[in-house]
Amino acid sequence: MTPLNFPNNNPASASSRVGLLSRHLAAGVQHPASSSTPIAFLSTTQSPGFSSSQPSKMSSQPEHPALLIPGPIEFDDAVLQSMSHFSESHVGPGFVATFGETLSMLRKLFQTTSPSSQPFVISGSGTLGWDLVAANLAEPGDNVLVLSTGYFGDGFADCFNVYGANVDKMAGPVGGRPQLPEIETVLKSKKYKIITVTHVDTSTGVLSEIQKLSEMVKSVSPDTLLIVDGVCSVACEEIAFDAWNVDGVVTASQKAIGCPAGLSISMFSGKAIEAFKARKSPPASYFASMKNWMPIMQNYEAKKPSYFATPSPQLIHALHTALSQILAKPLSERFAKHKEASDRIKKAVADLGLKQVAGSPDDQAHGMTAIYLPESVKATDILPKLAKNGIIFAGGIHKEIAPKYIRFGHMGVSVTDPARTDIDRAIEALKSGLAECGYQKA
Ligand SMILES: Cc1ncc(COP(=O)(O)O)c(C=O)c1O
Repeated sequence: MTPLNFPNNNPASASSRVGLLSRHLAAGVQHPASSSTPIAFLSTTQSPGFSSSQPSKMSSQPEHPALLIPGPIEFDDAVLQSMSHFSESHVGPGFVATFGETLSMLRKLFQTTSPSSQPFVISGSGTLGWDLVAANLAEPGDNVLVLSTGYFGDGFADCFNVYGANVDKMAGPVGGRPQLPEIETVLKSKKYKIITVTHVDTSTGVLSEIQKLSEMVKSVSPDTLLIVDGVCSVACEEIAFDAWNVDGVVTASQKAIGCPAGLSISMFSGKAIEAFKARKSPPASYFASMKNWMPIMQNYEAKKPSYFATPSPQLIHALHTALSQILAKPLSERFAKHKEASDRIKKAVADLGLKQVAGSPDDQAHGMTAIYLPESVKATDILPKLAKNGIIFAGGIHKEIAPKYIRFGHMGVSVTDPARTDIDRAIEALKSGLAECGYQKA
């Protein structure tokens, strides 16, 4: 367990984010749709370096390499097209109805029927969810226990430090996770206001067990709020908010939910909201203050116009479409499809003689796979080869092992749309890319 000592902003973490960005760019391919041209008017020109022998026609979208990084993911046509909605007032009845329905659909996605659960959808990325938790649920000096399984757990801990919480961090070995008996011992040693867990850490592909963790936390330390970072898990891994007695889940639009980036999406329990209301000091954030957003969310859901800061109507339309599609089928079917695709990918990786960063099968995520490269192959060699064959994977971002592995995201339409061949093509591209790099299975 490593106590963190940064009382304020952590410059190291800002520079490591810049490093992360440059590793994504290492793939060397510019996405052709990255201009600001509306989707309906995009031409079908291909990106430089993308071989036409690997066509990737995605219905009305121009041909482009399949984006199989662990978010943002490939998007469905209807989701993209719903963003070209004409401009509406953010307090007009049409948009208020769309936003209200979107919030109600989130209750279904998170599997909560409790009237005291509170959804929030705020313009921002997944990181804003951390601020929402740290600014509103922790007060300066409160004890917070962060379970870290990689880069993003460490980032959540940094965020709590910024707001003056007293943070203890527990991390497993790289590719593993802290185990329940040791977490229990720590929880018994000190009173924690909050415990956080990253459901899937996108830097390692390590999946954490939420239900058993919750049972243990509620029996050992019932007042402690259990907060889940579900940025890389919501909509591809099961989260039963009520049944598992979770107090908060924060996520973002651009991963398994399948909506373009730009929305922080979260759900908090009645107990978390009560903890916010019982604060002695006001939250040290204006934009991320639950006090400012809660009445707005409640009004929108009741179909009443309300304003604190302007939402993005076009992104909310896209989220409405994405959620309608997800909820049109049983969630269990969606989770099963992600598991099937994940099993197939993990078997192909093992058949190639490669290992995953997440060591134990029980700790392996179903929406992404972090793959150790053979010693002779560099990420900077294989990523461009994959890109030339129409497949974009991401480089490694865990500070201890970054150059040694690559990340394959398999969430959303690439897995659920039977018309897409993204996953099969990615497996083939991985095989041929490794062969081109001179790798042969021993
Ligand atoms: C698990 C996890 N948490 C938080 C974040 C931060 O989200 P964002 O980059 O949207 O701010 C990410 C981003 O990939 C993530 O994977």
